[in-house]
Amino acid sequence: MSISELKYPKNRLRRTRQAKWIRNLTQESMLSSNDLVWPVFVCEGNNIKDEIQSMPNVYRYSIDNLNEVYDIASEHKINLIAVFPFTPQELKTKYGDEALNPDNLVCRSLEKLKSHKSDFGIMCDVALDPYTDHGHDGLLSDEGKILNDETNGVLVKQSILLAEHGADIIAPSDMMDGRIGMIRDELEKNKFVDTLILSYAAKYSSSMYAPFRDAVGSSKNLKTDKKTYQMNILNSDEAIREASMDIAEGADMIMVKPGISYLDIIYRIKNELKYPTFAYQVSGEYSLIKFGSQQGIINEETMVIEQLSSFKRAGADAIITYYAPEVSKFLKLID
Ligand code: PBG
Repeated sequence: MSISELKYPKNRLRRTRQAKWIRNLTQESMLSSNDLVWPVFVCEGNNIKDEIQSMPNVYRYSIDNLNEVYDIASEHKINLIAVFPFTPQELKTKYGDEALNPDNLVCRSLEKLKSHKSDFGIMCDVALDPYTDHGHDGLLSDEGKILNDETNGVLVKQSILLAEHGADIIAPSDMMDGRIGMIRDELEKNKFVDTLILSYAAKYSSSMYAPFRDAVGSSKNLKTDKKTYQMNILNSDEAIREASMDIAEGADMIMVKPGISYLDIIYRIKNELKYPTFAYQVSGEYSLIKFGSQQGIINEETMVIEQLSSFKRAGADAIITYYAPEVSKFLKLID
């Protein structure tokens, strides 16, 4: 039927909106806790649960306190946790050596979280920014250039280390070229045939990561932007090339990041490539909603559900969000 044949009153679109039961039956997409990934920050120390200033109600947990994370994830039936480290400044170096320390925060967190049986998976970022004293995701030459191929060598080792410590998903968020293929080859060689790779394939050079950089302590260190490796915010076809290359190199799943300003990219990637597609509601998106609601300007519950629903409508299979543990409560509140 063509659009011009959609005539009133034969067609009254409000018929399917008149009551909740018929709205439910004609609903095209679905949002539930099953779709969510919960990012968690870890830090050194004992009995620490520190609120991150730029992200109210998001905490850095010391490893002994990860039991709480375990309990929250289990209670809310979260399927996947993403672990991010707040590396002490004195351990950050030019080459990000701490990334390859088998006793670093992420490796110890994996050991702790994997020490009891759980129903959720654990994902770890692969990138050097939590470990470098310049805050970049890759190695820097003396002239300040990001060294793609040299960085890949380190990322491969970082990936194997994380797999050895039980990471279920390796998530390269560094945007170097060629790293997915190299990581996949090395995982296979080391018999990690089941380790999943979620590639941050379409990761834009966005101003929305600022609170995250506070959370992992890299904002003070970062003196230049990430435009030579993260994507140009005005590009869309390039996201398809990024995602296609990563799939060809062995990625199981593709990430689009940030989320709300990039719904067109989520839509295109899902539609054109038909691969599992994850959307990241990043720290800036979180904090805007959080502070806006604290000021009484917007309603937090409805805003969160609306934004996450729009990811699903655009085609995202899963959503990474700092709101993950609260979504089931929000869904009930606004039902
Ligand atoms: C680091 C990384 C970033 C995020 C996830 N992994 C920041 C960046 O690229 O500078 C951002 C997450 C967020 O803002 O919530 N490679």
